Amino acid sequence: MAELAIIGGTGLTTLKNLEIRKREVMRTPYGEPSGPLMHGELCGKDVVFIPRHGHGHTIPPHMVNYRANIWALRETGAHSVIAVAAVGGIREDMVPGRLAFPDQIIDYTWSRKNTYFEQGLNEVVHIDFTEPYSERVRRLLIGAARELGLEAAENGTYAATQGPRLETAAEIDRLERDGCSMVGMTGMPEAALARELGLCYATCAVIANRAAGRGDGAISMADIEANLAVGMEQVRRLLETAIPKLESAC
Ligand code: HPA
Repeated sequence: MAELAIIGGTGLTTLKNLEIRKREVMRTPYGEPSGPLMHGELCGKDVVFIPRHGHGHTIPPHMVNYRANIWALRETGAHSVIAVAAVGGIREDMVPGRLAFPDQIIDYTWSRKNTYFEQGLNEVVHIDFTEPYSERVRRLLIGAARELGLEAAENGTYAATQGPRLETAAEIDRLERDGCSMVGMTGMPEAALARELGLCYATCAVIANRAAGRGDGAISMADIEANLAVGMEQVRRLLETAIPKLESAC
């Protein structure tokens, strides 16, 4: 039974060092996840992996079935989730190629299926979301980054935008005024759904580019891909260092 689930983001559709034992096609009450779940072993721990955007990276952020993905991961018995996600850097220290571990999130997405608590309820449910990320999983990631000497941002507010387009410079100005440090398109409702199901969830963000208006001119896909290649190599090393230290309890 998997203890840990890893959600792969853009640039991480496979986990090279995962020894795959089983591919599982799952159906959930909320539809199909982004693809078959990959069960295997990574550094001696049972791990389940799903690429958020599908194995061929064909599902855009606003079309991901977040409810099905999180439900399917919970069904495997995983108690912790590391969500890898590409972001644009707003704060000065959010330099392309670096990692960041957000500790807060603001949701700017709209019309996504964002809760399990909508039908057949005995009473209305409001989860506590004061601290949206698991501090235990965050500490695990921060500890691994320190051990490896990676220059990672240990906190920050993640702005979850709707996409799939990137933002305007004025939108990034507004996010900065709101206190956001990084911007991505997949952080919500994923984090909230994980909390609704009682999973310990944290994000390992990879800075793919400076956000709109924060770099030199237009943002190119070629630059994003090059920075993600650097960042994802760090993610692989980070996971290898962090996973053996994962504790079973939440
Ligand atoms: N904005 C939103 N999402 C992103 C970005 C960005 O600049 N870069 C990578 N994902």
